[in-house]
Amino acid sequence: MRAAYASALDADNPLAALTVGDRPEPAHPGPDWVTVQVRASSLNHHDLWSLRGVGLTRDQLPMILGCDAVGTDPDGNEVVIYPVVPTPGDPRGVSILSEHFPGTFAERVAVPRMNLLPLPDGLSATDAACLPTAWLTAWRMLTTKGRVDEGESVLVQGAGGGVATAAVALAVALGKRVYATSRDAAKRERIAELGATALEPGARLPERVDVVIETVGAATFDHSLKSAAPMARIVVSGATAGHEPKVNLRRVFAMQLEILGTSMGTPGELTELLAFCAEHEVRPVVDSVVPFSRIDEGFARLASGDVFGKVVIDHTA
Ligand SMILES: NC(=O)c1ccc[n+]([C@@H]2O[C@H](COP(=O)([O-])OP(=O)(O)OC[C@H]3O[C@@H](n4cnc5c(N)ncnc54)[C@H](OP(=O)(O)O)[C@@H]3O)[C@@H](O)[C@H]2O)c1
Repeated sequence: MRAAYASALDADNPLAALTVGDRPEPAHPGPDWVTVQVRASSLNHHDLWSLRGVGLTRDQLPMILGCDAVGTDPDGNEVVIYPVVPTPGDPRGVSILSEHFPGTFAERVAVPRMNLLPLPDGLSATDAACLPTAWLTAWRMLTTKGRVDEGESVLVQGAGGGVATAAVALAVALGKRVYATSRDAAKRERIAELGATALEPGARLPERVDVVIETVGAATFDHSLKSAAPMARIVVSGATAGHEPKVNLRRVFAMQLEILGTSMGTPGELTELLAFCAEHEVRPVVDSVVPFSRIDEGFARLASGDVFGKVVIDHTA
């Protein structure tokens, strides 16, 4: 079957490590695994990290990439795939599809049956394919970790990205005052259209916020600390611009800040998110929909950094 996979690792030029070509049909590591025919998937920065060799080693190659998918199960049901899979050999006890087990950028993918959730009425396959990684991460950052219901204001850093646009859209839908930074003027205009107050990176906010959504890291972390209200939660799920920022610990203890790490979310949180999007008519911010036959163009777009929202792959085109 046709698939997009890491055939090498290249820290400087991740696109050079990507191959689109034939791979064997999915194997079932256990009796509870099933094969899903993929209809739509979406790209994440995780796929670029894998090609760079972050989280993937040479002995795991070739590895089919892709964490997110919507497809059809063996009984003909339309399903959303929850991408976190039990993995006894991994120190976390789990892994995300495309780390130890082949991912979703293929005609078919194998997953444990318990990882299948029904596609809710009213959500298209391409919209739902945006939710299981970036949107799930943003949902957990805001709700379980950020306890956004205890506050009124949210700051989202690097707002053009997949997780960040999700956080903006969800925080607005939850009725919060949302501030969002982006380096790019055109992206700031689009963030404002989503209902947030758009700012240049490092700009002083009109108020200190209760929750900060951090996926950028070194380039924005000091601003996140300065923008946090007393007792605020700074929730970190990524470090696209560097993972070793300077941290002003005086501010952390004087303002009694909570700095919380998080990764992905639970199946229950994904179920909540799917229901929230269906009920509140919240739809993912889609940068572009690319046919599976041109998935390499989708990778190039994500690597350029010039995206606003999710790059979706249509496997039926
Ligand atoms: N832990 C998890 O479960 C989890 C899940 C999903 C993602 N992540 C991580 O979260 C991060 C974002 O993922 P994504 O898929 O949303 O990525 P993405 O769509 O590629 O977005 C990255 C965004 O980061 C901002 N950015 C990049 N470099 C920057 C810099 N030097 N200064 C300021 N902003 C910068 C950009 O925002 P502007 O252009 O608007 O400034 C960009 O749009 C990645 O590191 C990813 O690995 C983690």
